[in-house]
Amino acid sequence: MAAIWTMVIVHLLLLLPLLRSSIVFELHGDVYPTGLFYVTMNIGEPAKPYNLDVDTGSPLTWLECNAPLKSTHKGPHEPYRPTRTNLVPCEDERCVAVHRDLGLAHDCTQNPHQCDYVLRYKDGESSLGVLLIDQFSLTTNNENRPYLAFGCGYDQEGGQEARAGPVEVDGVLGIGRGTGDLVSQLRQQGIITQHIFGHCLGVRGGGFLFFGGDRVPSAGVTWVPMAQNVRSHYSPGAATLNLNVQLEYPVSVEPMPTIFDSGSTYTYVHMDTYARLISAVAVTLESSSLTKAHDDALPECWEENELIQSVDNVKNKFKPLEFTFGHGVNQATMEIPPENYIVVTQNGKVCLGILNGSQIGLDRLNLIGGNIMQNHIMIYDNERARIGWVRTSCDEMPGPEPLIGSRL
Ligand SMILES: *[C@@H]1O[C@H](CO)[C@@H](O)[C@H](O)[C@H]1NC(C)=O
Repeated sequence: MAAIWTMVIVHLLLLLPLLRSSIVFELHGDVYPTGLFYVTMNIGEPAKPYNLDVDTGSPLTWLECNAPLKSTHKGPHEPYRPTRTNLVPCEDERCVAVHRDLGLAHDCTQNPHQCDYVLRYKDGESSLGVLLIDQFSLTTNNENRPYLAFGCGYDQEGGQEARAGPVEVDGVLGIGRGTGDLVSQLRQQGIITQHIFGHCLGVRGGGFLFFGGDRVPSAGVTWVPMAQNVRSHYSPGAATLNLNVQLEYPVSVEPMPTIFDSGSTYTYVHMDTYARLISAVAVTLESSSLTKAHDDALPECWEENELIQSVDNVKNKFKPLEFTFGHGVNQATMEIPPENYIVVTQNGKVCLGILNGSQIGLDRLNLIGGNIMQNHIMIYDNERARIGWVRTSCDEMPGPEPLIGSRL
């Protein structure tokens, strides 16, 4: 009897480091000029690398597939080659989850042997595909090679504006709120013990992404409850936007539903908020050396006599912004330094990285894109239904929290 217990305990101790460890990935890319942050994932057997756009605004991970009929391939790597044996059947639980997450009817009468889907992005881009299963190499030592379901996109139609900047990717790491997304699958398989993940997008590019709870900082995190009413999205509920001029210039007329979407380079607000933001920024720049200018990169730009070399040269002329979420005891504020919402273009002008959401049909929905979230560890905690952030430089990946003292 004792021998059996010893074996059980030895087994548990062996499992402990595996279960506890979060999985951390290095990120590449930047807000400008790349226009996106991406992770290189090794998928398949033998594993091959794919660059995936990190997108908390959609719940399905997919790769451009090598399809016999249509070749729309633009990514830097060879497209993924599907085989019949890794198709997920329509009645499979994972197909049910993906259809639910995407708001699609789960109808298996046409094609029972495969799981067809269509993904539509906010900018009008769409992707047609089928669900596959293959091995993901999640750690460099090949300890974690789970089979995960993902989309094989064989027909992509462009949106109003290109989703990606000049750097093309091989697909999208869709980690939006869902039940069939990659993080949910890792949690269901017990590869991470908590349904928590986070990212840190560096203001000078790069950064990191983590799956699992033990990289969550133990102190200094501002938390807001996660609203459950926006499908596929992580939402802190309604938010107001303020520009921090001396007397606090209120930019928003009223609170509006808001989502965090790392897959969007820039941030979108309702047209009324947008119009007021532009006037408020104009007021703060009145006595500065900046004057209105045109730049093809973005709609609202300014210039100086000399070409602007870097954000550091002009950021002091702008004021911090703040988003305020919730109310009462749940009220929380996210302060946005100028370097997060301005961009210095390759033409030496400085532009506003906050755009008119009504122009892309968002209406009464604020979309907080990757630029605003730069130099913050953003934490999506599905265990406690909350979203948190802490300001930091994203240059260094966090080590695991000590075993004692970790409260999550
Ligand atoms: C924002 O977009 C809407 C819809 O296209 C437009 O009517 C409005 O004038 C725009 N606002 C500004 C300030 O550009």
